[in-house]
Amino acid sequence: MDMVLENMILAQSAAKGMTVGEMTGLLSQNALSAQNTLPSPKVRLAICGLGLVGQRHAAAMAQSLDAQLIGVVDPSDAGRSAAQSLGLSCYNSLSEMLEEETPDGVVISTPTPLHVEQGETCIEHGIPVLIEKPLAASIEEARHLVQRAKEKDIAILVGHHRRHNPIIKKAKALISEGRLGQIRALQSTCWFYKPDDYFEVAEWRKLKGAGPISVNLVHDVDLMRHFCGEVLRVQAQSVPSSRGFENEELASAILTFDTGAIATVSVSDSVVSPWSWEMTSKEYHIYPHTHESCYMIAGTEGALSIPDLRLWTHPDAKDWWSPISAISMPSETTDPLHNQIRHFVEVIRGKAEPLVSGEEGLKTLEVIDAIQAAASTGETITLDHRSAIG
Ligand SMILES: NC(=O)c1ccc[n+]([C@@H]2O[C@H](COP(=O)([O-])OP(=O)(O)OC[C@H]3O[C@@H](n4cnc5c(N)ncnc54)[C@H](O)[C@@H]3O)[C@@H](O)[C@H]2O)c1
Repeated sequence: MDMVLENMILAQSAAKGMTVGEMTGLLSQNALSAQNTLPSPKVRLAICGLGLVGQRHAAAMAQSLDAQLIGVVDPSDAGRSAAQSLGLSCYNSLSEMLEEETPDGVVISTPTPLHVEQGETCIEHGIPVLIEKPLAASIEEARHLVQRAKEKDIAILVGHHRRHNPIIKKAKALISEGRLGQIRALQSTCWFYKPDDYFEVAEWRKLKGAGPISVNLVHDVDLMRHFCGEVLRVQAQSVPSSRGFENEELASAILTFDTGAIATVSVSDSVVSPWSWEMTSKEYHIYPHTHESCYMIAGTEGALSIPDLRLWTHPDAKDWWSPISAISMPSETTDPLHNQIRHFVEVIRGKAEPLVSGEEGLKTLEVIDAIQAAASTGETITLDHRSAIG
């Protein structure tokens, strides 16, 4: 304890006629409470995969008062030079890094096919992980990983970062408060044009499993589940890449929820459009902002567009011939990637449960898998909630 504080306590205690024993007790009580108010040491994090999104995680950590980036894993020249510019050592493999460093948590932002192997390595070392979306390249692998984490009691947080956006939190609160009544219909649009060099700089983006259903639509499906519950049935169509990649370039699906609500979701990375979360949410400055919305949700009492958070109702009679008007609901604007790192720190400290757990990531992946299967077979796929982890 601070000497000045100690002397003040002693002087005040003597003035009150306290015994030396009583004074010593008081001093140790104050020392304890001073310890309790000391800031916790920073949580030490590592990043595995310092590419496009890995560098955003590094930027979020740099702004965090609670987290410190202590090491990076990336075998590429670009990754190494990005690590160097942050003044950090860069390891060629995760196991090499774990021989030298003891991070409290690891962010895995490598190409999707590497998520499970690297996630499992961290779990076997007892280290909580934030794994980028999609959780895995296949549901079998994802289930294995989630099961292993459960057995070892190690937290997985899946990088569906939009759930950390205050806009989404506000939308969820409005739905939970019943402002829309019972949700019956949802629509999500994820249309944009990814330039050729996006695929040239990272070859894996051309390969199976890295198409817009897995990479982009997975965010929208996660939010539809977040807003509306579990998906029971899936119908879908897709169109193969005209650029010659192994994936689709356009897909639309109909999702039927256990509540009876229906969502129509559409994705393309090869059309010019202002309607996507990227261009409407102002989440990341590299995308132009279009003042449009990309999600529409309609219920028995009202409708909500997102991200502009316009809540539509009939002020008088609930009737299509009566006036309908919208109020814009307020929300904070904070960076969801920063919020997500802050939340990961809380999870590591044992102060929070993962907002998007491994099980949640797995359930979303099951819907994505069903969309792929429905699109390739033309059949309606019924989900049997295989994700249940024993
Ligand atoms: N949350 C989001 O909004 C968001 C945005 C983009 C990407 N993602 C996801 O993040 C992941 C990475 O995507 P990206 O666009 O940043 O990819 P990227 O290709 O830009 O970056 C991947 C990095 O991983 C490195 N890498 C490759 N093999 C490695 C290994 N064995 N160990 C460590 N590093 C290795 C690469 O060198 C590269 O620097 C994907 O799963 C993607 O779906 C999420």
